[in-house]
Amino acid sequence: MRKDVRILLVGEPKVGKTSLIMSLVSEEFPDVVPYRAEEITIPADVTPERVPTHIVDYSGASWCISSSYCLLITLLCGVDIFRVPLILVGNKSDLVEHSSMETILPIMNQYSEIETCVECSAKNLKNISELFYYAQKAVLHPTGPLYCPEKKD
Ligand code: GTP
Ligand code: MG
Repeated sequence: MRKDVRILLVGEPKVGKTSLIMSLVSEEFPDVVPYRAEEITIPADVTPERVPTHIVDYSGASWCISSSYCLLITLLCGVDIFRVPLILVGNKSDLVEHSSMETILPIMNQYSEIETCVECSAKNLKNISELFYYAQKAVLHPTGPLYCPEKKD
């Protein structure tokens, strides 16, 4: 059993990474957020899986590779040492009328490391605690294959 879980939020600038963390912590949408949230640790007894969970923010502004989500995923998946379970997050669902699943599903099919996807909104707090729970679960109980046959050679 793992001692703890580390969740890292990465993505293009302004997608709402910091807001998602702040919304989780304060249970309300922050009007103003810093570029990067301080690392927070959720104590074991308030997490569903009873494992201390660290949440780490990365400011999009500090990433040189911000132009392509897929490039980022490829980088994370391509190097074995970074073979970590991924959750694909579609934030700002309050701004769209239709589900973005049509966009998300082809990306999920392409990368077996993506455990699940979730549409959420830091603004109206939709699926915020669920998102972090899925991330915790993906680390503790990954369902992905140990290796991907077509990547073996
Ligand atoms: P960088 O650190 O610069 O990469 O940005 P970020 O990904 O941390 O995004 P941030 O949390 O700073 O949010 C960017 C803008 O999007 C801010 O104006 C937020 O108020 C807004 N925003 C964040 N989440 C939501 C959301 O769920 N809905 C809406 N409508 N706006 C949001
Ligand atoms: Mg930020």
